[in-house]
Amino acid sequence: MRFKDLREFISFLESKGELRRIKASVSRELEITEITDRVIAAGGPALMFENVDGYDIPLVINLFGSHQRMAWALGVDHIDELTDRVRQIIGMAQTPPTGIVNKLRTLGELAGLARSQPKTVRSGPCQDVVLTGDEADVNMLPALKCWPLDGGRYITLPLVISRDPDSGRRNVGIYRMQIYDGRTMGMHWQSHKVGARHYRISEEKGQERMEVAVALGGDPTTMWSGSMPLPPDMDEIGVAGVIRGEAVEMVRCKTVDLEVPAQSEFVLEGYVVPGELRSEGPFGDHTGYYSLAEDYPVFHLTAITHRKDPIYPTTFVGRPPKEDYFMGKASERIMLPALQMTLPELVDINMPAEGIFLNLVIVSIKKEYAGQASKVMHALWGLGLMMLAKTIVVVDHYVDVQNVSEVAWRVATNLDPGRDILFTEGPLDDLEQASARPRYGTKMGIDATAKGPMDGFQREWPPDIVMSDEIRRLVDGKWGDYGI
Ligand SMILES: Cc1cc2nc3c(=O)[nH]c(=O)nc-3n(C[C@H](O)[C@H](O)[C@H](O)COP(=O)(O)O)c2cc1C
Repeated sequence: MRFKDLREFISFLESKGELRRIKASVSRELEITEITDRVIAAGGPALMFENVDGYDIPLVINLFGSHQRMAWALGVDHIDELTDRVRQIIGMAQTPPTGIVNKLRTLGELAGLARSQPKTVRSGPCQDVVLTGDEADVNMLPALKCWPLDGGRYITLPLVISRDPDSGRRNVGIYRMQIYDGRTMGMHWQSHKVGARHYRISEEKGQERMEVAVALGGDPTTMWSGSMPLPPDMDEIGVAGVIRGEAVEMVRCKTVDLEVPAQSEFVLEGYVVPGELRSEGPFGDHTGYYSLAEDYPVFHLTAITHRKDPIYPTTFVGRPPKEDYFMGKASERIMLPALQMTLPELVDINMPAEGIFLNLVIVSIKKEYAGQASKVMHALWGLGLMMLAKTIVVVDHYVDVQNVSEVAWRVATNLDPGRDILFTEGPLDDLEQASARPRYGTKMGIDATAKGPMDGFQREWPPDIVMSDEIRRLVDGKWGDYGI
């Protein structure tokens, strides 16, 4: 299963009964949000609105809004297949193969990885139509006003592409863009994100402009790849190629020195000016609250290129779970083997929807020495975007972290608050609303592991209540006799 572009994915979803076409006329102001919100709450399909008032461009939403559709978008039936594949790739790097057969297999795998790196092509459908000068007007997009108090209309599923002004390395991030007028937009890369880092570097270097390209649509793996919390120097497009098992084709932009996925539906080309900030927001955010208006850089449009019959992909966020929960869950699953390289005691991780990724991170560990839960918390707070985790809960290896009911029970019973809760301070997300200072505040680690002599615990720890295997087998065998 591999999709060349968005329309192939749409056809596939349709064939699986996982996409509905809506022919009724709908407004891009709030109405599409309300419809989609009801569909998400019912675990429903992706939606293609073919008749958005005032536009002849169809709009697709909720593409990634279930675990199944998210897995398909990444070319697998179940996301665990990708976790296994990442583990296999890491394994190749960790343990050199022995024996001729294994060596040849590893060589084949490495050649496959090399072949899946981005490939520059001379032309692509995303440039079927090229609009520059006065012809380029972002109001051509049926961008949504998602919630009543939103400050305007937003592009919500953009792949924002920039280069590190020092190293030239590419970054791709999904950062929403508020439409101010036909040619200017807000660039909502939050402080700890790589796009914001590129911007700060270009400001330090005294550059007049930093070029940015924004791709909408494309193959679904690439569309999603901008949400992955990869290390700054790792190219999302390269990783998208590895996940797809095929290189993502890239074309050079028309007015800026950047490349974009050739199969995109739309591309916005332009630049931000270091030092130029403008109020962005409010926006009904994935916290379930509005993020309030704040200053962010301004994106200036130099060109729009698009396919002949383009489709506009979008999403909306709000009180979880929404579509972004499923997108984040895929990252969580795929990143687990990478986390385990640094933290071998880590068994599993769960960022429940209600925790909007960083407010609540639950991990299970195989504890071997005193203070290990605390070591794991600090290590996570030092790892990439995990630095923003507000609460980390550590439980024992046998606890199913995906079962939030079990976790709540273990925390409630195992916790001696004075001993097991650790407070520290550090960076917090731009969207953090409770801390006294923006972007900085208290973090909490909860060690909900069982305690024993290793932890200096002198009392006897009670065993879990579990029925004996013998009685379970007996009851299994006699179940029919009970007439229940
Ligand atoms: C639908 C959606 C919308 C998002 N909007 C934003 C946003 O407006 N600003 C932001 O900084 N991150 C946003 N994110 C999260 C980033 O895409 C994510 O943190 C990603 O890792 C950023 O890429 P980077 O690590 O290369 O900076 C969004 C994610 C999704 C799935």
